[in-house]
Amino acid sequence: MSGSGLILGIESSCDETAAAVVERGERTVSSAVASQIATHARYGGVVPELASREHLRAIVPVVRAAMAEAKIGYGDLDAIAVTCGPGLAGALLVGLTYAKALAYAKNLPLIAINHLEGHIHAVLLNERESGAAGAGDAPSLALVVSGGHTHLYLARPATGSWRYSLMGRTLDDAAGEAFDKVAKLLGLPYPGGPWIDTMAKYGNPRAVPFSFAQIKTKVHLGGKAPRTKAAQTAPIAELDPHFLFSFSGIKTAVLRHVELHGLRAEAVERASRIEPGQRPPQSREEALALCPQPTLDLIASFQHAVVGDLLKKSFAAAERLGAERILVTGGVAANRELRARFTAEAARRSLHAAFPTLALSTDNAAMIAAAAWPRLLAGELAPADLTANPSLALG
Ligand code: KG4
Ligand code: ZN
Repeated sequence: MSGSGLILGIESSCDETAAAVVERGERTVSSAVASQIATHARYGGVVPELASREHLRAIVPVVRAAMAEAKIGYGDLDAIAVTCGPGLAGALLVGLTYAKALAYAKNLPLIAINHLEGHIHAVLLNERESGAAGAGDAPSLALVVSGGHTHLYLARPATGSWRYSLMGRTLDDAAGEAFDKVAKLLGLPYPGGPWIDTMAKYGNPRAVPFSFAQIKTKVHLGGKAPRTKAAQTAPIAELDPHFLFSFSGIKTAVLRHVELHGLRAEAVERASRIEPGQRPPQSREEALALCPQPTLDLIASFQHAVVGDLLKKSFAAAERLGAERILVTGGVAANRELRARFTAEAARRSLHAAFPTLALSTDNAAMIAAAAWPRLLAGELAPADLTANPSLALG
């Protein structure tokens, strides 16, 4: 240990290989991300085998890039932090194995970080870096909303590192997954979230009245854990149904609307005109050329409904907990309507809503290194037999 406060973070849980150096959980010294979007785009989603192969290719150059950008050697580090779950098993293993070997070879402590905890620390890192009002260690309601997760936590600093209590979660699809699936069925490329975000502002959010029914877990699930790809958590029956989400229904409702209103042919034609990996349209003209008005109205209504559901349940949970701060994080936290409506609602209730920067919203390693700092201070090091846990729970 050099006493520099510098931690090298490594992240490889899904389709981004990332490494970053962060000082004392409050200053990003360097950050490198190799995205695999172009590889997976032609399949309309992440292909686990391809993800592992791409991580293997990228891990060494990405770690070297982060160290070079930070202009430091391994002797300058205090620790190495790595994501150990949840995520894709093969993908996690690449980062984990590399981090373990590096920590052993350089005689550095290794810290294991839950990917969801990392997303929460992305907001805390951003608040510290920007010196934002409301920064600090106040107990917060955290909404982690991404392609794999839609989880509500009470996050609070405890002796040493932070502690998390699960308040709510999705029973089926994650919100980002719903964005991606709806985009796909409308003939838009993967990942669909940024496309929907861009297109939504040209449509009427009240054109299609999508709604979310109140979830009654005890009736529907009989207290059993739901079928889900996301992290293992406390038995669902122990959670308040007011804080549970379900996004598979709205996806089906969009499909029904598309078929009923003959938007399908347009979508198929659009898909054949869009090259894999192309970025969202940058101008109003480009967006309008791609989608007729009924499709734009559908997109705007879908996004409005999803954001409304996330907002309603997050603020209800914050109120229940008496939390004064709401942290919104994960890929979907990049969404413009979500940011605007959460910010406005927080102001209305005299609460503070905080988001990561756009770069820190999607997967990155700065958030992993930032989350590791309080754990290093608390002496919470990874055991020698640390392994990847694809369904690792938080809280
Ligand atoms: O956090 P992330 O990079 O990876 C996971 O841990 O899943 O999140 C990726 C997800 C994708 O589903 C993507 O469509 C969604 O975040 N996303 C967005 C936006 N940007 C990314 N969803 C809505 N609006 C956006 N602007
Ligand atoms: Zn993530």
